[in-house]
Amino acid sequence: MAFKSFLFVSLVGAAILAAPVAEAQLGLIGGLLGLIRIQGTLFCTANGNMGANGTATPVFPNALVQLQCGGNVVSTSTTNGSGIFSILLDPLNYILSSLLTNCNLKVDTPLTSCNSSLPALGGLLSSLQFIGNTPLGALLSVANIIPAGFRFLPSN
Ligand SMILES: *[C@@H]1O[C@H](CO)[C@@H](O)[C@H](O)[C@H]1NC(C)=O
Ligand SMILES: *[C@@H]1O[C@H](CO)[C@@H](O)[C@H](O)[C@H]1NC(C)=O
Ligand SMILES: *[C@@H]1O[C@H](CO)[C@@H](O)[C@H](O)[C@H]1NC(C)=O
Repeated sequence: MAFKSFLFVSLVGAAILAAPVAEAQLGLIGGLLGLIRIQGTLFCTANGNMGANGTATPVFPNALVQLQCGGNVVSTSTTNGSGIFSILLDPLNYILSSLLTNCNLKVDTPLTSCNSSLPALGGLLSSLQFIGNTPLGALLSVANIIPAGFRFLPSN
């Protein structure tokens, strides 16, 4: 009994001593592994958004989605078979607030590639919207950004 409580006190003591070090290390890793994720679904409609039929709206696969900031392409993603694109950014290189004000999602892949009745010229454009953080652990998190809503951009 005496030995057991000695062991218990020792373990608790060791845990208390170890805590500040572990926390400092995790804080550093958290700063490096925290991410910004831009994700959304592109639909095969005249404006790229979900249509009147909701989730039954056909999606737009194999479309190249560009993240443009100040007119420059900084990252790209291709929609998969479910119309989903995902772009991960390192928050050390991007400030969330400037991303939301200076950057857009742009799609130049012709709409005709998913539905031949849609316009062959023009593209889709959406601003960005922050919807919150998803914790990955005690100190890690992902900042989630979605398209605020696509609109058709006629070519000129
Ligand atoms: C919705 O679905 C119905 C039945 O499949 C179809 O006739 C109609 O064209 C669809 N509407 C749109 C806007 O896609
Ligand atoms: C598209 O990507 C999403 C998110 O990663 C995934 O859940 C989905 O299964 C993928 N669809 C296809 C058809 O690969
Ligand atoms: C293709 O687009 C046209 C025009 O928006 C629409 O009426 C038609 O339902 C679409 N076809 C499919 C298969 O989604």
